[in-house]
Amino acid sequence: MEFPDTPTTVSRRCFLGGCAATALATGTALSAGTAAAAESQPCGKLPPGTFLAKKADVPLNGGVVVYFDDETSVVVAQPKKGTYTAFDAKCTHLGCMCSEVDNNLIICWCHDSRFSSVDGKRKTGPAKKPLPQIKTKIKGDDIVVA
Ligand code: FES
Repeated sequence: MEFPDTPTTVSRRCFLGGCAATALATGTALSAGTAAAAESQPCGKLPPGTFLAKKADVPLNGGVVVYFDDETSVVVAQPKKGTYTAFDAKCTHLGCMCSEVDNNLIICWCHDSRFSSVDGKRKTGPAKKPLPQIKTKIKGDDIVVA
């Protein structure tokens, strides 16, 4: 599978109490990550150094869903101030893409499975397995694949 040089769309979700409904539909293009084949990560094997999100774009106790292509999306969350996590957004139930992070829960609306944004473990719903975690590192203001 080839990956685009840049995530083409970001479905940015803001789930803190004060978010306006319009924020739920906001899409924001993010800058480039690198594209190359790599087999060491889940989520379509994003290569190390792939840009995921700006730290400032990931709300505390919430997160963003970064879209790469129809098969590849990554949930980037901030479950604790200054602590960022990332997971393959593909639900371990039947493969829908998780699309929201609310109060530290990653949500798949297909059948309402919810996963912890701390460690990806299933909290409720029909999924049995956790979301695969993607190792990340901070590079300046950015969160990238480690
Ligand atoms: S595919 Fe996610 S809950 Fe069923």
